[in-house]
Amino acid sequence: MTHHTIAVVVGSLRKESINKKLAQALEKLFPADFSLTHVRIDDLPLYNQDDDGQLCAQVMRLKGEISAAQGVLFVTPEYNRSVPGVLKNAIDHASRPYGQSAWNGKPAGVIGTSGGPMGSALAQQHLRNILAYLNMPTLGQPEAFIQTKEGLYDEAGNIGEASLKFLQGWVDAYVAWVKKHN
Ligand code: FNR
Repeated sequence: MTHHTIAVVVGSLRKESINKKLAQALEKLFPADFSLTHVRIDDLPLYNQDDDGQLCAQVMRLKGEISAAQGVLFVTPEYNRSVPGVLKNAIDHASRPYGQSAWNGKPAGVIGTSGGPMGSALAQQHLRNILAYLNMPTLGQPEAFIQTKEGLYDEAGNIGEASLKFLQGWVDAYVAWVKKHN
């Protein structure tokens, strides 16, 4: 059985991030032949094209982790109806130098949550635009706009009963997508 590694990029640096919590709960829904690597983005400098010729260690690490993965799972909050700057910063870093993007061809999954009923939908749409340019085949359906509210998790932090069927279906679709593109 081929083993697949998925790089998980969470677009929030917040300690109590609801998107980080969602990413951790989703991890448990993946099959045994998948492992998830949570990619660090909080120590990246602000992207500056002047540094393209001399990538710092944090950027090399990021690019290495993305390159080594068979897919990338983005779990993003919505900031002002778009993606948070920290996520865009990480995406820009790993996309350069020109012609050496680590994202190229990696099958992507896009999901996210907010406290509001739109569940990060607009951020996800903006992210899909970016990923299209980066040549990342991105799972189209099902979409997953998750509202964080009472009952989303059980007491152990696992996905609660009300959302389990839907989110297991989402993970299963993404798993099939990754296999199809590797
Ligand atoms: C937000 N939030 C938010 N929520 C939303 O549904 N749509 C939005 O456009 C925004 N905009 C926004 C901007 C900024 C700068 C902040 C700090 C917050 C609320 C957001 O969903 C909430 O803070 C989440 O908890 C953020 O996700 P994490 O950090 O908990 O994963």
